[in-house]
Order: sequence, then structure tokens, then C-alpha cells
Amino acid sequence: MNYTSIKEIDSLKKWVKQALKIKKDPLKNQRLGKDKTLVMLFFNPSLRTRLSTQKAAINLGMNVMVMNFGAEGWTLEFEDGTIMNQGASEHIKEAAEVVSQYCDIIAIRAFAGLTDKEKDNAETVLSGFVKYATVPIVNMESATGHPLQSLADAITMAEFKTKHKPKVVLTWAPHPKALPQAVANSFVEMMQLQRDMDFVITHPVGYELNPEITKDSVIEYNQDKAFENADFIYAKNWSNYNDYGKVTNTDENWTVTADKMKLTNNAKFMHCLPVRRNVIVADEVIDSENSIVIQQAHNRTYSAQLVLQKILKRLP
Ligand code: CP
Repeated sequence: MNYTSIKEIDSLKKWVKQALKIKKDPLKNQRLGKDKTLVMLFFNPSLRTRLSTQKAAINLGMNVMVMNFGAEGWTLEFEDGTIMNQGASEHIKEAAEVVSQYCDIIAIRAFAGLTDKEKDNAETVLSGFVKYATVPIVNMESATGHPLQSLADAITMAEFKTKHKPKVVLTWAPHPKALPQAVANSFVEMMQLQRDMDFVITHPVGYELNPEITKDSVIEYNQDKAFENADFIYAKNWSNYNDYGKVTNTDENWTVTADKMKLTNNAKFMHCLPVRRNVIVADEVIDSENSIVIQQAHNRTYSAQLVLQKILKRLP
């Protein structure tokens, strides 16, 4: 069993329930991971993913090895049949097979490069490991998805929802740097698995996500209108998907402020973190009692623990 996309979840409701059970007693399965090893490979920086996934593995009694592959590993070649006389020193085929010999599960973080849409959509790094590794693979944020984050988001909304069918708004917010679409993509895919939630995406015209992901999700280009009666506001920046990887809008009118939050039904504020204060969200919102970003980050441990637990149970 791999965990590369939130779409691999058979029943989100069931998984959320199981994660909340783990949260109540996180050390219950401390023997499940005995003598099993998780290798975590980071091609990009991390705070939450690195520590929460490691914590989850420790809760399950696993050994953990972490490598900052982007900074410390050999540069990898991903194409088959390449004459490797340029920059890359090692082929993914050997690298993935070798790492697999040292562990029972490999977790990988490899962001979008944001220069080559086709390459990013092909998930070159993640797919390379899925193809050549001989152990299960966990996605710790790839070019197009962040399924551990969106599972944690689902757990957090289940804890904080106060009515049967809450309205959830994913809002684009400005950012000076080009960021991947991965978090937004997985949030959209997770919301498409929710049965009892109204979902609206709001962003400036031109900032549409991949239509193969958004499918028939509702898009409202007027942020104020989208915020009306919302119960959850999920803020995230992403760079332009059409004009791929470019920052074509930094309109600060899209920053989530207290005035914007007044349009909502006393909504909870969510963001995956890290967040740029007073760019994405005003201090007064993220510091308010309606902000649940810290609780959201806490749930990263239980989303990772549920995934690792499910994989461990299926290991030979
Ligand atoms: N939300 C998230 O993935 O945080 P990190 O980038 O710090 O891991």
C-alpha cells in the first residue's frame, strides 16, 4: 500500500474517525512498528511534515532515518535511457532500490519545480520512487499534492464543525513568491470526498487550479460573496497554473482580514502553515480565537500516524 494521493482513501469519514481514535490514545500501537524503519527523504524544506511524521513513527515504535536529499544526496536522473554525461550522478532506479533495502517505508517530499508544467504534472520524483522502490511510498508533499496535509485538514474540520452541513471556502491569498498548487489541489480533492459540506473555491480570475482536479467544484470569483455565511475559511496562496508558476497577482485586497471574516458565519480560520502574516492573513485573524492553525498542525501527527499504521498492518 502506498499513500500518494488523498483519492486513495476508501472512506474519508472512516479514516477521520480512526485518526481521532488514535489521537485519544496515540501510544496504543507502540509495538506495531517495532523493528520497522521509516526513511524520510526531503528534497525541500519542512517543519511540520518532518517533525509530525517522525513523531507519528515514534508513537508506533518505528526507527526513523531522515535525509535532506536535496542538499546532501547525489543529483538524480529520472529519465530512462539517458546518457548521463551531464549534472546527474545517480539514476532513480538504483537510488530507490538501494534506499528500499535500508527500510520498510519510504516517505518523500519533492515540490513542484514550477518551470515545467508537464514534468510537475508527471510527478517525476514521486513516480520514480513508486516505480523503482520495493517498499511502500508515502507522499509528504509532491509536485501536485499534499495528502497528509489534507487528511489533517479533514480531521480538524470534523473536530471543529458545529453544524451538519458547514460551508467551507478555499480562498487564494497573495504571496510575493511563486508557490506550488499542491496544498490547494489536495484540499479540493479532500473536499470532493466530503458528503456533508458545501464547498466554494475563490480566487482572482486567471488563478484557476488544474480543471482536472477542480472538476465541478464551485468557483466564485468574488471573495466577499464567497465568504458570506462561511463556517471555515481555508487560506492558501498558489502560483498561476495557466501562466505556469508565475506570480501574476499580488492584490492585497485578497488578504484575509477581520473585516472579511465579519462576512462569515463566525468562521474558523485555517492555513496549512508556514504563513506570511499580514500578507496572506492579518495578525488580528490568525491571533483570534477563531484561528485553528495550531490545532490543524497538531493533527498532522495523527494523519501521518493513521497512514503509517495502515501501511505497517499490511507489511508482510
Ligand atoms: N504544512 C506543511 O507541510 O508544513 P511544512 O512545510 O513545514 O512541513
